Amino acid sequence: MTITTYIKLRLIIYTGKGGTGKTVTSCSTAIKLAEHKRKTLVISSDPAHTLGDAFMMPNIGYEPQEILPNLQVLQIDPVTEMSKQYDTILSYMASIFSAKGIDETLAYEIAMLPGMTQLFSLLKIEELVRIKTFDAIVIDMPASGEALRYLYFPKLVGSIGRKLTGLVGMFSGVARMFQPLSKIPAPSKGVLESEYELLDRLEYLSEIIRNSDMTSIRLVTNPDTFSIENAKRAFMSASLYGINVDLAIINKIMPHETSNQYYANWAEFQKTKVEEARANFYPLPVKEILLHRTELRGLEMLTANGELIFGNEDPAKIYYRGKPFNFANEENSLRMTVKVPFTEKDDFDLERYGDQLTIKVKNPVGYVVNIVPLPSATIGMKLAKAKLNGDELNVLFEKNV
Ligand SMILES: Nc1ncnc2c1ncn2[C@@H]1O[C@H](COP(=O)(O)OP(=O)(O)OP(=O)(O)O)[C@@H](O)[C@H]1O
Ligand SMILES: [Mg+2]
Repeated sequence: MTITTYIKLRLIIYTGKGGTGKTVTSCSTAIKLAEHKRKTLVISSDPAHTLGDAFMMPNIGYEPQEILPNLQVLQIDPVTEMSKQYDTILSYMASIFSAKGIDETLAYEIAMLPGMTQLFSLLKIEELVRIKTFDAIVIDMPASGEALRYLYFPKLVGSIGRKLTGLVGMFSGVARMFQPLSKIPAPSKGVLESEYELLDRLEYLSEIIRNSDMTSIRLVTNPDTFSIENAKRAFMSASLYGINVDLAIINKIMPHETSNQYYANWAEFQKTKVEEARANFYPLPVKEILLHRTELRGLEMLTANGELIFGNEDPAKIYYRGKPFNFANEENSLRMTVKVPFTEKDDFDLERYGDQLTIKVKNPVGYVVNIVPLPSATIGMKLAKAKLNGDELNVLFEKNV
């Protein structure tokens, strides 16, 4: 099946640092989508109860459940998904380890390599897309810089190919490291078939995720240095992986409060952070959401929050489409092009600190600082040239020799 067979689906993925508001934003978005008469599903693969806590509905479980007209919610249980669908592969992997004399319980533990649970949650998404029940799926991704990598994983595995060098091959390789000389049990026909099916599904998933008509990543951040940097890095990685990012949401901004100096100071600080965030997410559209009076949860507050974020807009809209970061590999160098929120040629200062570039630009109210995260490929390279071309910064890195 190709992707064009089901193009009307919108897949919206929220990501950001822990506690920034991914879950509540996902729920509010889903409520709004349902109001727009889209058959919507909001899912989370976070530890149990996440959606139940947000909606204040303790019974939300591992099967889709309708909580409003057009709105279903689902808590993914990666372990159930895994054992339901990939029992064969998992037990083969475990048998490899136990053949090496590793205790069976431990063997299962080791076979669940890091990232496996995320991967199986993603496969659930593939299944949901394939069954074509929904017009919109909102995904509340767990807080982890790693999460994006798993979104890319399908492409990676797909490109390894359909030879026996696929998953089973990889895992027997791991087993070999444990005990190089002994024999590894041969995978059964069932295991190989499961593996091929898995590769097919991963390829389809990869197509879904990199189709910008269908899938958007949205960044959730707060007006603080840490979460902005985290989101900025996710923005860069998504571009690197060819996944479209269409919107950034700065959440939990304190309202201006004049009577209390303590809060006034915070509000002032956050104002500079919001400005910084806007510069850093350029050219993405940015939405600012205030900190509510009390903890944001329950249907009523989530609905009101959806109104604050989207107003009359349809959240399924693709807010931005483009390539804010571009990477070109040359023989001993890497050329990176980044869109920046200024165009004056002489007025910027560029400095590299480890895996990020800091661009300082003078403007009438002071300095705007733009932090550009660098891809890992630039480790061991030096910054050779930088040039501004309109709103594009062109940076050349060269391998150290
Ligand atoms: N605009 C807001 N106003 C008031 N409270 C908020 C707002 N946004 C989020 N919260 C509260 O902040 C807390 C964290 O929100 P949420 O669980 O959505 O974040 P998260 O990014 O999903 O966190 P995690 O990384 O742990 O999954 C919750 O208690 C939520 O109610
Ligand atoms: Mg959450």
